[in-house]
Amino acid sequence: MADTVAHPSHPGAGHGDGATKRDFLKMLAGAGAVVGAGAIAWPLIDSMNPSQDVLALSSVEVNLDPIAEGSGITVLWQGKPIFIRHRTPAEIKAAEDVKLSELIEPQSDADRVKAGHAQWIVLIGICTHLGCIPLGNKPTDPRGEWGGWFCPCHGSQYDTSGRVRHGPAPLNLYLPPYAFENDTKIKIG
Ligand code: FES
Repeated sequence: MADTVAHPSHPGAGHGDGATKRDFLKMLAGAGAVVGAGAIAWPLIDSMNPSQDVLALSSVEVNLDPIAEGSGITVLWQGKPIFIRHRTPAEIKAAEDVKLSELIEPQSDADRVKAGHAQWIVLIGICTHLGCIPLGNKPTDPRGEWGGWFCPCHGSQYDTSGRVRHGPAPLNLYLPPYAFENDTKIKIG
């Protein structure tokens, strides 16, 4: 008989076979302990994790592939609208060529985008005046004199870097924390 493990009703098996059986029983007991521990630990671990809803709000991954050059989308992150625009070469140039002395809140375009990804501008889409959501993500939206975003509430205008160019908004659109996971995917938060 090659393997007494498959026939535990044969206790008279030789020493080597007995050892094999004991090893198998130990292995079974060990496996049972692991399964048992896992079954107990899972609900505890699971109950310590935030709900899927909360996780979804704390960070958001966005696939940039479908966003055509010249247009943008809005996604929600922690209850805030996040603008993601795929800028054209002309929009990037316009943002880069501005003299900082002309700006209400001077900030270079390079400080507002990620190195090597200047075609993407990612902004918190809340006007820094009184919190309206500016227009400008869709190519058909009014974008104001500087081609970025236009706030319909009191007429503030932002450029293609999201910097305020015409008040009453006092500050540039804020930047959310985000990182590129690869060339076509970002994680916000
Ligand atoms: S809230 Fe945007 S201009 Fe007032």
